[in-house]
Amino acid sequence: MRRDRAGLFLAVALLAGTVGGCTRAPTDPVERAVAALTDEFEGAYPADVRERRGTVREYALTAEPATLPMLDGRPLAVWAYERQVPGPILRATVGERLRVRFTNRLPVPTTVHWHGVRVPNPMDGTPGVTQPPVRPGETFVYEFVPKDAGTFWFHPHLRSSEQVERGLFGVLVVDEPTPPPYSRDVVWVLDDWRLARDGTIDPNFVTRHDLMHDGRWGTVVTVNGKVREVLEVHPGERVRLRLVNTANGRVFAPDFSRLDARVIAVDGMYAARPLEPKGFEIAPGNRLDLDVTIPADAAGRTLEVVDRFLARQPFVLATIRVAGEPVATPTFPSPATAAVPTWKDGLTVPPTHRLELNAQQGGPYGIQWTLNGAAYVEPPAADAAAHPEDHSHHGTLAFPRDRFLRVRFVNASYRLHPMHVHGMFFKVLARNEQPVDEPYWRDTALVHAQETVDVGMVPIDPGKWMLHCHVLEHAEAGMMTIVLVP
Ligand code: C2O
Ligand code: CU
Repeated sequence: MRRDRAGLFLAVALLAGTVGGCTRAPTDPVERAVAALTDEFEGAYPADVRERRGTVREYALTAEPATLPMLDGRPLAVWAYERQVPGPILRATVGERLRVRFTNRLPVPTTVHWHGVRVPNPMDGTPGVTQPPVRPGETFVYEFVPKDAGTFWFHPHLRSSEQVERGLFGVLVVDEPTPPPYSRDVVWVLDDWRLARDGTIDPNFVTRHDLMHDGRWGTVVTVNGKVREVLEVHPGERVRLRLVNTANGRVFAPDFSRLDARVIAVDGMYAARPLEPKGFEIAPGNRLDLDVTIPADAAGRTLEVVDRFLARQPFVLATIRVAGEPVATPTFPSPATAAVPTWKDGLTVPPTHRLELNAQQGGPYGIQWTLNGAAYVEPPAADAAAHPEDHSHHGTLAFPRDRFLRVRFVNASYRLHPMHVHGMFFKVLARNEQPVDEPYWRDTALVHAQETVDVGMVPIDPGKWMLHCHVLEHAEAGMMTIVLVP
């Protein structure tokens, strides 16, 4: 980072006409603010980790059609990783090499994307950008060393509106070398399903209706693939609850008021401090980690977590049933102590990038979702020969590396757009020009109807990273672009 900073100062010095080799503080107020904001980022999350030699976590991951007891327990024809929906929970420790031997036994090409994980760019699973699609029968080895501990997930990045909806998603948990000693570590994968009359997955994908709304919302909501997930715990337990939204379009807003809970991490990364679990919307792609203490006297109680995103249609998302012998509650400080910059002066720097989110007529689906008027086109699924270079020409954005930048999302539409960027984390600075204080990172931020959201970030991982709406139908109909970090 030092080297680039010196270069930046030199450039400013030249601009200001101060020839003479002085590379101290920049004189331009914006440059000075950018330098200070970049400095504030230093140490927030590492550019690299030291690899723990000799330990490789190896997993086989096969995608294939399967018929599994799902939802209410009846058999459902799905596409599954390792014949499970959700797919397996893969685990690794920070710094440990993870090697996933992926085999495609689907009738269609696919890829695996590691959502939120700062992987080397060739491992990012973006078809036509970081790798050709993995054809039926082929194998691709994904290999990387996770740099951040937390809750992440993986899913296809080709025709994902269909592939994710049919059941292809799994969770990757990255542990710190000494994980906090929770009594229990629980994953809740939130999803919904749109079924046809005969009870199978409705095979009409990316419909005009989906495109005119917030993507494909199903009628059956599941947690871990089940309609009524029940978590059994003992009184006194301290539970780490990891929520992941893998739905195509549905946003969740769980009401945790019946629990003694604190939010400790958002989108994988620890927050700067434990937070009241109020007002969190979990949009497609988002994760939320909670530190939940079950009261010692709660035996026999049933604690419901109700979803309230649609105020008029609340429903029970999942239930925690307290039973059995009480256990001693582990006492340890909250792990939510991350060094997250406040970036109080983030709004003094004008937006470096402005992205207008909107729709227009046209394209293969009749409606296109656009970023600054441009629609991204995925490589054709049939074109398995698509080469990384083929699709890199669509309105690419250039983000500087090791330098603070401010991106403004302007939602010109009335739909919801959870905007996601691969390979980096950002912080929401303002909504509708009102400063907000979110003491945590995100990789996906929900932009509401007609809303303007300003985010700040310092990209540190080089590569071609996708920036897109995580409503999978919107993304497939064009709401996607490439960010180039040199
Ligand atoms: Cu889960 Cu490109 O995203
Ligand atoms: Cu969208």
